[in-house]
Amino acid sequence: VTRPLLLDLFCGAGGAAMGYHRAGFDVVGVDINPQPQYPFRFLQRDALEVLAGKPAQYMKLVHASPPCQAYSNLNAYNHADYPDLIGTVRDLLRMQGFPYVIENVPQAPLIQPVVLCGKSFGLKLYRHRGFEVGGFRIEPAVEYPHRELCARNGYLPTPERPFMSIHGGKHSRAWLEAAKAVMDVPWMTTIREVCEAIPPAYTEYIGKQLLAALEATS
Ligand SMILES: C[S@@+](CC[C@H](N)C(=O)[O-])C[C@H]1O[C@@H](n2cnc3c(N)ncnc32)[C@H](O)[C@@H]1O
Repeated sequence: VTRPLLLDLFCGAGGAAMGYHRAGFDVVGVDINPQPQYPFRFLQRDALEVLAGKPAQYMKLVHASPPCQAYSNLNAYNHADYPDLIGTVRDLLRMQGFPYVIENVPQAPLIQPVVLCGKSFGLKLYRHRGFEVGGFRIEPAVEYPHRELCARNGYLPTPERPFMSIHGGKHSRAWLEAAKAVMDVPWMTTIREVCEAIPPAYTEYIGKQLLAALEATS
């Protein structure tokens, strides 16, 4: 049985990709930087060029995770000039006509995003990410109250603070291993890869809903 094909743009080390793979897709990743840990087929290319160049029409879904630095709160302090790619990516995706998912931090300019949190999937982290979906619908996940306290970024969880904060920094090896376990990304090897990733559970949840919708219409 062939699995439907998904194009994973701005793929990083493959957090999103792994979730779609678990849901039942074959995944091809595209990133402008080398991604030696990416666990599926990988093309080192500019994602915008790939999109503008008309990806194959048999693609069932295009996922895009443009860099979030332009929208993240830290940018207010950094004053760095990061590209704002979401609008361009959306325009190209709509022009091509693929069902699509654009993922980013909740404060990014996404249209009617479904926001997912680690706690909804039994993970010990509150990592909110917004998912704008085009061409199909997804149900919001059940949200649970944030009762547990979070360890500070760079610190290991404790019984008093059992949830992790996972953001960049010069963290210890032990912290990296704990973060990989909490995010469920055991194949990743660097702090950067883990901090840029989304937990595979989020895209597994989305991917299964899209597959069900595709099966219902086929
Ligand atoms: C937030 S990370 C993606 C994380 C990934 N979704 C995951 O779950 O592991 C964004 C990625 O976009 C890549 N990137 C930035 N500009 C790009 C471009 N123009 N084309 C392709 N990739 C790009 C970066 O190298 C980085 O790996």
